[in-house]
Amino acid sequence: MREKEIFTIMCAAKINLYLGVVGVREDGYHDIETLFQPVSLYDEISFCRIDKGIELSGNDETIQWGESNLCYRAAEELFKYVNYRGGIRIEVKKNIPVEAGLGGGSSNAGGVIKGLNKYLNFNLDQDELMGIALKIGSDVPFFVFGRSAIGRGRGELLEEIKGIDGCFVVLAVPKVKISTEKAFKKLSLLLTRSESEYKLRRLLNGLDGFPESEIKTYNSFETPMEVLYPELHSLLVLLKTGKDCIFSSLSGSGSACFAVFVKNASAARMLDRVLDEGYFGVIVKPVNRTFDIYK
Ligand code: C5P
Repeated sequence: MREKEIFTIMCAAKINLYLGVVGVREDGYHDIETLFQPVSLYDEISFCRIDKGIELSGNDETIQWGESNLCYRAAEELFKYVNYRGGIRIEVKKNIPVEAGLGGGSSNAGGVIKGLNKYLNFNLDQDELMGIALKIGSDVPFFVFGRSAIGRGRGELLEEIKGIDGCFVVLAVPKVKISTEKAFKKLSLLLTRSESEYKLRRLLNGLDGFPESEIKTYNSFETPMEVLYPELHSLLVLLKTGKDCIFSSLSGSGSACFAVFVKNASAARMLDRVLDEGYFGVIVKPVNRTFDIYK
């Protein structure tokens, strides 16, 4: 294929500034309330038309690039929806750690849906794209929506919010991988919906006055995952005790954690400590969209 026919996109990771699990649903999923914040850590996905079929590959050998991969399923669902008879080659360059609660796989799936809708001129609207996204996973609609948002229901009922800005976020990932499904199974559902509403509102008020006001966050998975994984507990203690850290938490169901700083130098000091302890670490910034066309 000629290079000019290749279309490349960037898909961002997310952190959950808040995550409350408020009940089990009849369909077996859980109702959640969460605050999704995109951050500047990106995977890159390239598309190229082929005659037929879906060919998927990626630069991370620990990931299965077959038919069960979220990118493959996203392309398959989209093609079914529009009755597309042509084919596509998809190549993924991973930077976002996998099974870490940073939404890497969901971001890639959202990127495939949005990217192919543009590249192949399907002209589907946002609601149609988000409907396809929900078939792939609970977090995928957020990555199609693309902006900082409160997520309710399974995470697909989205309300845009301002998000955070003007800060540096240290992402730190321990070696342990946590499957979302298993993490949900380990939860004791102690948080009521009204308690969750209160905690979320308190956080949003705190973020309104950011960084001057006190900020208290919450994640339903944090305590149970800390109990299960001592390495995760040590990391959360390290982040919480960091000088100048405004707030810190687990992201999603883990195992990634994050700590928010106003000064770059303070974030850099924390990053050194994270790396010294042998964790994966990187400094990112909050961004206001999850998807960009690569120029
Ligand atoms: O939707 P997704 O496939 O990403 O979810 C992975 C697993 O996490 C589900 O199979 C389900 O067990 C659990 N989950 C849940 N409630 C949610 C999201 C995910 O129970 N809101």
